[in-house]
Amino acid sequence: MTPQLIQIHHADPAAIRAELIAGLSAPVATISPKYLYDALGARLFAAITELPEYYPTRTEAAIFAAHAEEMARRLPAFDTFVDLGAGNCEKAARLFAPFQVKRYVAVDISVDYLRDSLDILRRQHPHLALMGIGLDFSAALQLPAEVGSGPRLMFYPGSSIGNFTPDEALAFLRQVHAAAQGGGLLIGVDLVKPVAVLEAAYDDPLQVTAAFNRNMLRHVCRLASADFSLADWRHVAFFNSVASRIEMHLEAVRDVTVRWPEGERHFAAGARIHTENSYKWRIEDFAALLETAGFRAIRHWADAQDWFAVFSAQS
Ligand code: AVI
Repeated sequence: MTPQLIQIHHADPAAIRAELIAGLSAPVATISPKYLYDALGARLFAAITELPEYYPTRTEAAIFAAHAEEMARRLPAFDTFVDLGAGNCEKAARLFAPFQVKRYVAVDISVDYLRDSLDILRRQHPHLALMGIGLDFSAALQLPAEVGSGPRLMFYPGSSIGNFTPDEALAFLRQVHAAAQGGGLLIGVDLVKPVAVLEAAYDDPLQVTAAFNRNMLRHVCRLASADFSLADWRHVAFFNSVASRIEMHLEAVRDVTVRWPEGERHFAAGARIHTENSYKWRIEDFAALLETAGFRAIRHWADAQDWFAVFSAQS
């Protein structure tokens, strides 16, 4: 079956520029982590997931490999498997057999990222109904009617929920609960662990994460016509134990003035731009968050060290 593709999100260059300039001009300069992912940034992130220090991807994959059948038995029946942030669709494809998936909907910011992946899936799974939706679900999770009216299994792996603040995570999970239409949720969550393990995962000796973070400035130069020079900025990542999050920043290595057509900002040596938070949860706190969002029958599976957990829940 030919995959149906629906593009809902349309980038607005003026709005993007205004958002970037507002962040750069704010008292604490910030750039949203979504700007980490231009074409090179997406490749650098894929490289991060292969680093020995970046444990989340392989730990989550091992949890699914060991427990997918049991997860499938515990979750309610569903018509449609909805993959939020699907990318290459590989994580979901490993679950098609244990979850007996018949209809698969891949959601990502642009159907252009999904076209090739869905085409490969079409050849591998000729009887599966496939759909791709281009949607910025972090802004609002409103799936089009074409997804169908039956129960859905919402799939949100990779601990991307950690890139939301706890308040944002709750608001997002409430939307996921509504979107599931009486089905369920399967979500990957990164857990609190020794600080040295966390900090190595976000400041690896090969400096792939540093390249990922610094590459964002090239993206911002293109989007906002700013004149950042990469040599002026270094990658900083540390665990903020009060907020229970890894913070990524870019730090000016000397006094710099960054200019863009409508303005400029001076950064003294040592001044930082905050680029990402990655929250690390305790199992009981995440279970409570799911419950507050309206989910029930909450279960989790973790690795032997309790470094990462996959939660299942009914909506
Ligand atoms: C996509 N997200 C879950 C990653 C994380 O671990 O927060 C992004 C990342 N940032 C640095 N390394 C990986």
